[in-house]
Amino acid sequence: MALQLGDKVPNFNQDSTEGPIDMYEYAGNNWLVLFSHPKDFTPVCTTELGAVAKLKSEFDKRGVKVLALSVDSVSSHKEWIKDIEDTQKSKVNYPIIADQDRKVANLYGMIHPNEDNVFTVRTVFVIDPDKKLRLFLTYPAPTGRNFDEILRVVDALQLTDRCKVATPVNWNRGDDVIILPSVSEEDANKRFPDGYETIRPYLRITKDPDLVGVS
Ligand code: BEZ
Repeated sequence: MALQLGDKVPNFNQDSTEGPIDMYEYAGNNWLVLFSHPKDFTPVCTTELGAVAKLKSEFDKRGVKVLALSVDSVSSHKEWIKDIEDTQKSKVNYPIIADQDRKVANLYGMIHPNEDNVFTVRTVFVIDPDKKLRLFLTYPAPTGRNFDEILRVVDALQLTDRCKVATPVNWNRGDDVIILPSVSEEDANKRFPDGYETIRPYLRITKDPDLVGVS
């Protein structure tokens, strides 16, 4: 059965551009963003891998490790990295899994046979430090992903975990947030000393806790 939100994700061992990787060990106590690419030397993937390299310090700040995957060999990946660095003007500063036998792709449901039965689609798995699947996205091969959006959802997930708040439509860091409906009024009064606005009993708005030092 396909992985679902809240599932503990399975571990895997596979070769990569930085040597053999045990995924659980690589992630350690960090968050992990695992993302797949259809194939080496393809244009959209080339831009994506360059963009993720440029965002690496943003992932680092949030305690997130990144791990890419493509179904070609380590030697192919290493040749491709030269192109990525040359064309995207960024150094690939994270490993790319060489999933030639599709072990990880099959384990994580990255191959969608009615789309393509050889190459992976573009998946993103956001995995928390307990190895629970917190978010996944699936895009078709010709559509590049927005990795700023991945950072945004990591911010939202981490804020929810720390502060018992949810994030409204189009939320970005610093915007107002919603107190989780499961938080009682008594608890809300303690947790959000700067107050909150009750628009409906289920819709209580407060400042981003990171702005007011509540977290
Ligand atoms: C790409 O990564 O550029 C790509 C891969 C497969 C189909 C179309 C585009």
